[in-house]
Amino acid sequence: MNNKIALITGAYKGIGLEIGRQLGRQGVTVLLGARSLAKAEEAAAGLQAENIHAYGVELDVTNANHIGSVASHIEKEYGKLDILINNAGTYLDHLGNNVDVMRSTFEVNVFGAQALTEAVLHLLKASPEGRVVNQSSILGSVGTILSDEMYGSRSVPAYTTSKAALNAWTAQLSIALRDTNIKVNACHPGWVKTDMGGEHAPMEVHEGAETAVSLATLQADGPTGGFFHRGEALPW
Ligand SMILES: NC(=O)c1ccc[n+]([C@@H]2O[C@H](COP(=O)([O-])OP(=O)(O)OC[C@H]3O[C@@H](n4cnc5c(N)ncnc54)[C@H](OP(=O)(O)O)[C@@H]3O)[C@@H](O)[C@H]2O)c1
Repeated sequence: MNNKIALITGAYKGIGLEIGRQLGRQGVTVLLGARSLAKAEEAAAGLQAENIHAYGVELDVTNANHIGSVASHIEKEYGKLDILINNAGTYLDHLGNNVDVMRSTFEVNVFGAQALTEAVLHLLKASPEGRVVNQSSILGSVGTILSDEMYGSRSVPAYTTSKAALNAWTAQLSIALRDTNIKVNACHPGWVKTDMGGEHAPMEVHEGAETAVSLATLQADGPTGGFFHRGEALPW
């Protein structure tokens, strides 16, 4: 076990849970955030059975009370946070192409990530090597979604604009923190078999977690302010 602490949002299933497993196997203590405390604790119990130091926390990233409670809990228990993975994400475009869907999507994918990061920033600064990973998507790459190969992905305006905004905010945050020990990067997990990715996705969940895990464990000479998939820099 090392003494690193990680907080992962949207982590009771899918890529988030697998990120917790892979970080936990490296000895990191992982806090699994979920809207439902029962689901978070059940997921943590599953990882504990694999000898991982995992704990569930109630964390709807759109809920300021949850965010405040989790930040206070981490401060009291650990006094620092080494890794924050803003993994929680929502895909609501099937509900329609309108401003309500856009707002609801941004609440989770953009404002939720920002609010949580702001609330724990002092704890990341207390770490000798803070790492923030924003779970984005290749669909947030504006140039890529205009390409012919992505033609089928053009009719998801809320999801794509939210991930593009998350990417731009990643760049901004990395600039704001460039004189600190904190590295901030955006991640494309790949098209992964999860409830969101669907059964036809080509990548398994353990593969989908790998990019976020590598960005969460970057060495001091690693990049900041980038957008990556499996070690490759992606176009914004
Ligand atoms: N799978 C892919 O192919 C793919 C590709 C590119 C990017 N991504 C990104 O990867 C991330 C993980 O997705 P996934 O594929 O693992 O899908 P998933 O299994 O559906 O996981 C999404 C997670 O986000 C949580 N979430 C949604 N709204 C939340 C909120 N307000 N507060 C806290 N948690 C919330 C969900 O919890 P509930 O069940 O409670 O809603 C769920 O745990 C997302 O950001 C997604 O956009 C996935």
